[in-house]
Amino acid sequence: MPHLGVNIDHVATLRQARGGVEPDPVWAAAEAELGGAVGITLHLREDRRHIQDRDLAILRQTVHVKLNLEMAVTDAMVDTACRVKPDQATLVPEGRQELTTEGGLPVAGQEEKVLAAVQRLQAAGIVVSLFIDPTPAEVEASARVGADAVEFHTGEFANAAEGPDRDHQLVRVADAAKQAQALGLVVHAGHGLNYVNVCRIAQIPGMTELNIGHSIVSRAVFVGLRKAVREMIRLIESPVL
Ligand code: PXP
Repeated sequence: MPHLGVNIDHVATLRQARGGVEPDPVWAAAEAELGGAVGITLHLREDRRHIQDRDLAILRQTVHVKLNLEMAVTDAMVDTACRVKPDQATLVPEGRQELTTEGGLPVAGQEEKVLAAVQRLQAAGIVVSLFIDPTPAEVEASARVGADAVEFHTGEFANAAEGPDRDHQLVRVADAAKQAQALGLVVHAGHGLNYVNVCRIAQIPGMTELNIGHSIVSRAVFVGLRKAVREMIRLIESPVL
């Protein structure tokens, strides 16, 4: 069964809407842990749109489960990660105008740059995951640069219409997962997963980690974060297909 990493960026987005102190993503992380989350995921963007340096510094001290830092492949972000030492770094693409992370990191085509970041992070004792599209070329490139894990971008799966299109996207992720494992990569997935579509992704053999934010924080508005996290874990562990 995969374990759940709760992405708390959306709590920070709400705080930044007023530029104040609430809701505090540090509180969100504690609630998510109390709900059973095995990981806390946060994306410190270069434009500091939601998560702030202060959040990362406090969370490093207060999170007792896996702290997973999503970050761009830049020298400045690698410096920050090596100083703060999250348990895991997930390298993601960043575009200034995007609403959210819209596609995977193109590892093929910039292997030298990604390899240098992977090596520096690993030398600091940080596990490195690459957020990629589920394609054979990206899986191969991820193995070549020595990543520990890959997180498959499930946005296309989540956005596909229920039926043959969704089935096709599921097969893409499952095939990429098989290929990644054969190359020694640990398999994660995330983006756009919710209480309806998570079951099929959770069932993919060898899937070890799902990072989910928007749907959990959305449900938390009505039921509270601890309960929203518990409900997601129940679906991941005992899927209703
Ligand atoms: N994984 C990665 C690498 C992401 O960038 C995001 C979005 O911030 C997520 C998972 C979570 O996506 P969502 O908020 O759609 O659940």
